[in-house]
Amino acid sequence: MVELNKIECMDCLEYLRQIPDDFVDLVVTDPPYNVSQKNDIMFNGRKIRKNFGEWDYGFDPLPVLKELKRVLKPNGQIYVFCATNQIPLYMSTFQKDWQFRNMIVWYKTNPAPRLSKTNWVFANEYILYAINEKIPPGKATFNFPGQVAMHNTIVSGALQGKERLKNANNQALHPTQKPLAILKKLIEISSKLGDIVLDPFMGVGSTAVACKEIGRKFIGCELDKKYSEASITRL
Ligand SMILES: C[S@@+](CC[C@H](N)C(=O)[O-])C[C@H]1O[C@@H](n2cnc3c(N)ncnc32)[C@H](O)[C@@H]1O
Repeated sequence: MVELNKIECMDCLEYLRQIPDDFVDLVVTDPPYNVSQKNDIMFNGRKIRKNFGEWDYGFDPLPVLKELKRVLKPNGQIYVFCATNQIPLYMSTFQKDWQFRNMIVWYKTNPAPRLSKTNWVFANEYILYAINEKIPPGKATFNFPGQVAMHNTIVSGALQGKERLKNANNQALHPTQKPLAILKKLIEISSKLGDIVLDPFMGVGSTAVACKEIGRKFIGCELDKKYSEASITRL
C-alpha cells in the first residue's frame, strides 16, 4: 500500500504494483518523451540541453498504461504529456482499451531552436486525455470553467523564471519541469477536492505541488534520487 501525499524514490512499475485496484481518481503524468539527442547545442551563446538523461531513451509506455488502467477507478481519468512521435501509440491504446476524449495542444512560445533549418521547429507538446472505462462522460468529474477556458490549446512558454528549480550552478535542475499553471488547470477540471491524483513520473514534484496548492491528495514516485529529494524539499 502506498502512502498518501508522499513521493517515493523508486521505479514506477514497482511502485504501481503496490497500489490497489480502483484506488486513484485521476492520473496526471509526464513520462519520458524519448526525444533526447546525445549532444547539447549552443544558440546565441546559450547552451540548449538536448540530452535529458538516460531515462529519456527507449521508454515503453505500454506496461505503465496497463498498470494505470488497473489502479484508476472505472470513471477515473488520465492526462499524459507526450511528444509528437508518441501520439500514435498513446492514441491507439486509449481508443482501443480506454475511452479517448481529447488531445490538448500545448503551444510553447519559446521552443528549442532548429539550428539546421531543414525542418519545422517543434513548438508543440501534447496532452492526451482519456477516461478509464467506456462510460457516459457525464459519469466522470468534469468542472467546465467556460467555453474559452476549455479550448484544447494551451499557450504557455516552457518554464523559466522563479518557478524553475535551479542547481548549485544556477542552471535548470530538471530539463523538463512542467508549469504549475497547466497542471493545476488539468487537475481542477477533472477532480474534486480531496481526490487522489497519481503521477508515477514526478520529476521535481510539479504534480504534487499543484495538488497541494488546490486541495487534492497526491501519490507518486520518481526514479532519480536527485529529483525526488528536490521534490521533497520543494513540497
Ligand atoms: C518528463 S520528466 C517529468 C518532469 C515532471 N513533470 C516535472 O515537472 O518535474 C520524467 C521523469 O520520469 C523519471 N523516470 C524515468 N523512468 C522512470 C521510471 N521507470 N520510474 C520512475 N520514474 C522514472 C525521470 O527521472 C524524469 O524525472
